[in-house]
Amino acid sequence: MADNERVICPSQALEERGRGVRFDLPELGERTTGFVVRFAGKAHAYVNRCAHIPVELDWNEGDFFNYSKDYLICATHGAHYEPTNGHCVMGPCKGQRLQAIDVFERNQQVVINLDSINKETRHHV
Ligand code: FES
Repeated sequence: MADNERVICPSQALEERGRGVRFDLPELGERTTGFVVRFAGKAHAYVNRCAHIPVELDWNEGDFFNYSKDYLICATHGAHYEPTNGHCVMGPCKGQRLQAIDVFERNQQVVINLDSINKETRHHV
């Protein structure tokens, strides 16, 4: 495995519109986490940081979907994000987006590519 990749969990741990899997992202700061969910069959990963105020989205660990399971939701003020691209479609940060992380599945494992985070971080500095 290339050193810019990290295995997050087995593919089967991610159920369609089910609980997300959180992971540490020390690359972005000591307490920063990311998460991955499955939606429409595909894994989608984001930095776990609301576009409104930089807090984690999940009030209960791993709960990222809204009640009807069609959006990711921030537990603090209810921002709704498209699971497929992280765009905020409703809430105080409407029009902004979550920071996406490249994710793919290989050999029944969910893997993130850290280059995507580093690139984006440099962008913001
Ligand atoms: S902190 Fe997420 S909606 Fe306000």
